[in-house]
Amino acid sequence: MKSRQKTANIFLTGATGFLGAFLLYELLEQTPATIYCLVRAEDEKAGFQRLENALKQYSLWDERKRNRIVPVLGNLSVPLLGLSPTQFDNLAKTLDVVYHNGGSVNFLYPYSVLKAANVQGTHEVLRLACQAKVKPVHFISTVGVFSPIAYGDRDVVREGDALDRTEGLYGYTQSKWVAEKLIETARDRGLPVTIHRPFWIEGHSQTGVCNKSDFLRSAIAGCVQFGTAPDWQMRVDIVPVDFLSRAIVRICRQKSSFDKAFHYSNPRAISWNQLIRWMQEFGYSIEQQPAQHWIAQTIDRLPQSPDNALYPFLPFFSERIPGQSMSVPETYFQTKPLKFDCQNTWDGLAETDIICPPVDDKLLKTYFSYLIETGFLPAPVESEAELAAS
Ligand SMILES: NC(=O)c1ccc[n+]([C@@H]2O[C@H](COP(=O)([O-])OP(=O)(O)OC[C@H]3O[C@@H](n4cnc5c(N)ncnc54)[C@H](OP(=O)(O)O)[C@@H]3O)[C@@H](O)[C@H]2O)c1
Repeated sequence: MKSRQKTANIFLTGATGFLGAFLLYELLEQTPATIYCLVRAEDEKAGFQRLENALKQYSLWDERKRNRIVPVLGNLSVPLLGLSPTQFDNLAKTLDVVYHNGGSVNFLYPYSVLKAANVQGTHEVLRLACQAKVKPVHFISTVGVFSPIAYGDRDVVREGDALDRTEGLYGYTQSKWVAEKLIETARDRGLPVTIHRPFWIEGHSQTGVCNKSDFLRSAIAGCVQFGTAPDWQMRVDIVPVDFLSRAIVRICRQKSSFDKAFHYSNPRAISWNQLIRWMQEFGYSIEQQPAQHWIAQTIDRLPQSPDNALYPFLPFFSERIPGQSMSVPETYFQTKPLKFDCQNTWDGLAETDIICPPVDDKLLKTYFSYLIETGFLPAPVESEAELAAS
């Protein structure tokens, strides 16, 4: 058996978000600890309500665990997380471990906008971890810190590979890269840390419940709405949120995990083109087009299509990555996708029943059924015909 950490008081950031709500659920399930959650709200009542709503939104609420959740009103973008020096010091004395998952997950904002929440926020979290007593920090990063432009010469990107190449990063991934560098510096100075780099975080593997505003889901919906899809080379490398949150909490509770990075890439992912074929067989009428042609058409059509799920992502297609001649989709989806080795993760989960579900017909049906039932996607024509015939 791997030795497990015993912790009484855990600090979690981003618990009102998608992964954060599942991490809060898992921390309540897997530990007896009290979870102090950084939350943006007017007062404690509103803060608690936001956390309760987040758990309820994903069907994770357990009334019996209410007393183990403590809202900490604050903001990652503000010095001392928006707390007074006394509040900050008291919190630093109370906590035993930190899970830093919160941040601005926005692919469209430039680094200058994301820096406050993602970089300075990480700085303040590290300050909290080092004040009064040393507390391990578990940091949620992204595989996006490795850009295909910078690491395209590798057959595989390993968890221990140096993060020393920045070409091809854009605002969001730049901010996560710098935040990782802060975590690395703290590690080199003796702070116990772990770094977790998931690929796309997708819905619950059994219920399909998910965060509907992410890019991948918007791309799927946008293609259904337009009836066309690009011929991208990208991998639909999705990690279901229930698997990911269970895995992260389990791995973080093992002392043998300290000072390592962990990749979460689906060993049984599919390609984007396989996904489009599956959607066609499922009943959607989608014509696949050469990627450049589709992107040019999308840039033309989106300004007149505010109802299209991709509408908010127009700048993503039309703007170049700083210092590069290509946009983010051209860089990330039209070039050979990077492969991520996950050995530390599989080792950390070896003695558990935590297994990443494959991206197969069953998982895709679960996801699409949820998206159709909740009105995010129209039912495919064939399904409607089947329903009428039944
Ligand atoms: N989604 C993915 O596919 C993906 C993939 C790889 C890595 N990740 C990483 O996973 C983590 C969680 O992502 P997610 O998709 O769950 O994001 P999300 O749903 O957008 O949640 C972000 C959370 O961070 C909080 N937050 C943002 N700015 C804040 C601030 N200034 N002060 C305090 N809290 C703030 C949000 O609080 P509010 O509710 O107040 O806005 C929310 O609770 C992030 O670190 C992200 O980089 C995500």
